[in-house]
This record gives sequence, C-alpha cells and structure tokens, in this order.
Amino acid sequence: MSSSTFNPDLKDDADVQLNADGSLRHLLTLKGLSKDILIELLDSAEAFLSPEGALPVRSKALNGRTIANLFFEPSTRTRASFDLAGKRLGADVLNLDVNTSSRKKGESILDTIYTLEAMQVDIMVVRDAGAGVPAYIARNAKDFVSVLNAGESDVSHPTQGLLDILTMRQYRQDFENMTVAIVGDIQHSRVARSAAHGLETLGIGELRLVSPPAMAPAADDMPFAKLVDNLDDGLRDADVVMALRIQRERIGNLDGIPGIDEYFANFGISRERMKLAKPTAIVMHPGPMNRGIEIEGIVADSPQSVITKQVTNGVAVRMAVLERVMRTLDAR
Ligand code: CP
Repeated sequence: MSSSTFNPDLKDDADVQLNADGSLRHLLTLKGLSKDILIELLDSAEAFLSPEGALPVRSKALNGRTIANLFFEPSTRTRASFDLAGKRLGADVLNLDVNTSSRKKGESILDTIYTLEAMQVDIMVVRDAGAGVPAYIARNAKDFVSVLNAGESDVSHPTQGLLDILTMRQYRQDFENMTVAIVGDIQHSRVARSAAHGLETLGIGELRLVSPPAMAPAADDMPFAKLVDNLDDGLRDADVVMALRIQRERIGNLDGIPGIDEYFANFGISRERMKLAKPTAIVMHPGPMNRGIEIEGIVADSPQSVITKQVTNGVAVRMAVLERVMRTLDAR
C-alpha cells in the first residue's frame, strides 16, 4: 500500500472495533471481521430496503441520538447516505463543514473529537486521507462514543465493502461458486481492499484483481486474490465485474501510469470487453465514475449495471451499521 501514514502506533483495527464480548463497538475495517457479524449486517441492511418507488424504511432506533459526519476528504455518496441513514433512524445529524471548521485554525483532530463529545455526539463518522485516523479516534473516544470509518486513505472503506457485497448477494448467494473481477487502480483503492476482505471471509470462489502493473497491489497485500495484468484474462467468465476510478489524489509518482486513452484501450470496461464475462454478469462501480476512462458510458447505463442499486444499498447498509453500534453502546 502507498497510504499516507498518520499514526505509527497502529494497532490491529480488528482488535479495536470489537468489545471484549465480541460485539461491534466501532466499524473500522472488514479485515478480520467475523462471518457472523458480516451476515448480521447484510441481513439487517436488507430489512432497511423498500421496493423501488415506495417510501424509504424508517425506524426510531436512534431517536434522541446524535451523529456527526466528519469528512476530511470529498464525498457525495458516503456522506449523503450516512446523513439520510441517520435521519431515517430518527437521529440528529451534524454535517461538520470541515473547510470552515476550527481545524483550519490548527485545532487537532482529537480536540475536534473532544469538542463534539462535549456536545453529546454518540457516533462519529470519519473520512480522512491519513491511514490509521479512524482507529486513532476510536482508541481515544469516550466509552459512550462509536466511530465509523467512512473511507481511510487507501486502507479501508468498510461500509462500501458491505454495500458492494450486499449488491453481489442480491444477484447470487453462492459466493463459493462466484468469480469476481475488480478492475483498475487496485493499489490505491480502499474500496478494493474492503470488498476483498469481506469476500474472503464469505469464501469467494475466485477473486481477480485486474490492473496495469503500476496499479497492482503488493503480492502479500491480498494473498487470497489472483493478480491479473490483462483485462481479457481478468474478465473471462466473470460473474461480477467491478470497475474502479484511478485514484489520482493518492498517486505520488505517475511513472508507469498509462495515459487516459491507453488506459481505456487496455483496462476500460467497454461493451465489447464485457462480452468476455458471463452473459448474466453484473457490472459495478463504487462511484464517482469517470465515463470513458475506466468504464464506457453505455456499459454503466446498461441492464447489466447495478451501479445505482449500489447507491440504494449504501443507505440501507449505513442504517444497519448505525443501528448495530447503537445497540452496543446501549448495552454498556
Ligand atoms: N464510493 C464512494 O465512497 O463515493 P463518495 O466518495 O462519493 O463518497
């Protein structure tokens, strides 16, 4: 990984996120999260979905509670869906405008957290470019506070992983017979890592990480996956094809990174290329999309595409996670 390092005192996030009794206190990573907890969250998310066109499901599970969205990196989907998820559960939701917050005046992240704790915030939703930031906050938070990772450097994006896996499960439940191809800038992708860790736990049949060599992960990063540097080989007979954006904000050295036209020609998910996957294959993208670079617009809008379904599932998954950690806090 090429993540920007925040805290050298990193503990395994999987240890930090569980209480001694194994209940989910924070959600920091899918790596090491048990199959039981994964399935519980997926099942709970499913119950928060309503038919297309119907009113969204609401609950009073977080009535009187407060959620703070702290996004120190840009976001549309994750931030909006945590906002809606909290409101649909009855919580007050504070969307801190980081660009006009006192962090711009030099306040430390922990002083920001202590300030919000003093305002009786129960759940902090954190996105940050620094590796280890959500776990650092979780280790320093009061025992009545839960921290949810909403995107951490190139390390982890656990609610995205959950919504991606929920979307795959709606298509097929037999993960052991499924071939998933994640295509693009794997090296800098927290989305790929979280999906990969969750799929490993669920016993995925074959996971292919398909990228140009300059965007490939280290061989020991996700050793259970097959690294592929040729798109045709990566797509052949795949059940699920997920395209990723090139994470330019995380690429320090552009040496070896293909130009846009070369990238699309060799790694873009085009209608022609999709003929290599199974005819029933679904196409996914976590967003934001760059049409004509990692995916052809006609593919993104095709009947095979479940990209907007991923977005819908994102709200449900975030409701499930908020409700789960709130139950842990309530049981203190
Ligand atoms: N997939 C995702 O994290 O999108 P946003 O950056 O818009 O939140």
